[in-house]
Amino acid sequence: MSPTSIQALILAAGKGTRMKSARAKVLHPSLGAPMLEHVLRAVTSAGADPVTVVVGHQADAVEAAFAGRGLGFVRQEPPLGTGHAVQVSRERFAARPDRTLLVVNGDLPLLRPETLAALLETHRRTGAAATLLTVELDDPGAYGRVLRDADGGVRAIVEAKDATAEEARGREINAGLYAFEVPALLDVLGKLKPQNAQGEFYLTDVVGLLRAAGKTVGAVKAGDPGEALGVNTVAELAEATRLLRLRRAEALMAAGAAIEDPATTHIGLDAVVEADAVIRPYSFLEGRTVVRRGASVGPFARLVDAEIGPDAQILDHCLLRECVVGAAATVGPFAHIRPESRIGARAKVGNFVELKKTHLGDGSKAPHLSYIGDAVVGPGGNIGAGTITCNYDGTHKHPTRIEAGAFIGSNSTLVAPVTVGEGAYVGAGSAVTEDVPAGALALGRSRQVVKAGWASARAAARSSSSSGSKARKD
Ligand code: UD1
Ligand code: CA
Repeated sequence: MSPTSIQALILAAGKGTRMKSARAKVLHPSLGAPMLEHVLRAVTSAGADPVTVVVGHQADAVEAAFAGRGLGFVRQEPPLGTGHAVQVSRERFAARPDRTLLVVNGDLPLLRPETLAALLETHRRTGAAATLLTVELDDPGAYGRVLRDADGGVRAIVEAKDATAEEARGREINAGLYAFEVPALLDVLGKLKPQNAQGEFYLTDVVGLLRAAGKTVGAVKAGDPGEALGVNTVAELAEATRLLRLRRAEALMAAGAAIEDPATTHIGLDAVVEADAVIRPYSFLEGRTVVRRGASVGPFARLVDAEIGPDAQILDHCLLRECVVGAAATVGPFAHIRPESRIGARAKVGNFVELKKTHLGDGSKAPHLSYIGDAVVGPGGNIGAGTITCNYDGTHKHPTRIEAGAFIGSNSTLVAPVTVGEGAYVGAGSAVTEDVPAGALALGRSRQVVKAGWASARAAARSSSSSGSKARKD
């Protein structure tokens, strides 16, 4: 089937009452991306065009979150059921009657592209008017039940709330994913009636109507029951996220990444872990994070849009955002690397060090307790413990330059804008307010005063006065 022969409609207008949340259900995140994003990726991978999203509850927020993605939006206000959602979108898909219409519930974040492809393949091969995805569940709960004829054909879908006791015992459920031939769908769509327990127009009633019109309805059973998890509650969202987390980790492990504990490791949809990289437990790789070969991350690290070079180590309890860490560099434990920072190859950032908009040159070190912001440190520099760049004057931010091989003594403050030249030294405890030329030593502290014998004289004076008072008491 050529990709352009499919169009898609994603149903995302429902209030999501069971989430008990002010936010639209499809915007709730799972593995760092809104539920709708997961569905959209599956649909896009099938080559659907156009893709229309039916919005209603929090429509503005949903449209804003997915603006610029080439989607069409249809407003369904008020939402009167899944069948009504398709009815109000009629103009969108009726315009292309030759393209098979995929209809997908927006609350199916576990839907796989492969399953969509299998559904479309069966639909095309059998020539059915409609084909739906079903799953066998031990506990079919509130899902719509798929009713079959004696010969095995799909006869109808009955919602759990409307099912007889016998129908409710059925274990094959409707997953909420359908392929329709548009002319056949248009013939019956107007016939839906809200005569059911919820007073809604059910899309699922289309199945019975198509059968009554003499059309065939087929079904594909999903192999993985988890895939049909329709998220209606916060607890179901947590379960979907758990399954997505494991699925993502499994895919990366299959390609050689060492994920030590997939259950506690969050690797977002767009994060990449190369072969032979090690991700230790309780670590979060978010956004466009990339961890290259041989690097290790964690435990308890959080990386957002960070690129970690080959053989680099991000040690325990670090937070890194929008930054690049060079090959074989080490960061942490307990380091905070803020946006627009670059750490050079073999550089070292130690515990309780914060970098902001700072480029630390190759082989440079900031091993302990520092804040370095708006700075450029050349290669081979040494930033002593407790060094602070005073980059902010209360109104503006100013830059600090520390050139190649410079040595900043412990507990120095560098008052920006300021430059410490190549190979220069700054004595420990200095407040540096003026540029230090290359090769110089700067001392910005008061000279030490030594008073010989002062402490022993004081001690002697104290002991004689206390023995005096003791004598008086006796
Ligand atoms: C639906 C199916 C049920 C199936 C289950 C699978 C119907 C009547 N029932 O039930 O057979 O087993 O999904 O998860 O379709 N929506 C709209 N407009 C509306 C109502 C809903 O766009 O007026 C959207 C929702 O935002 C949601 C999707 O349609 O993304 C499904 O709606 P929901 O209320 O969750 O349906 P279920 O009761 O789960
Ligand atoms: Ca649902």
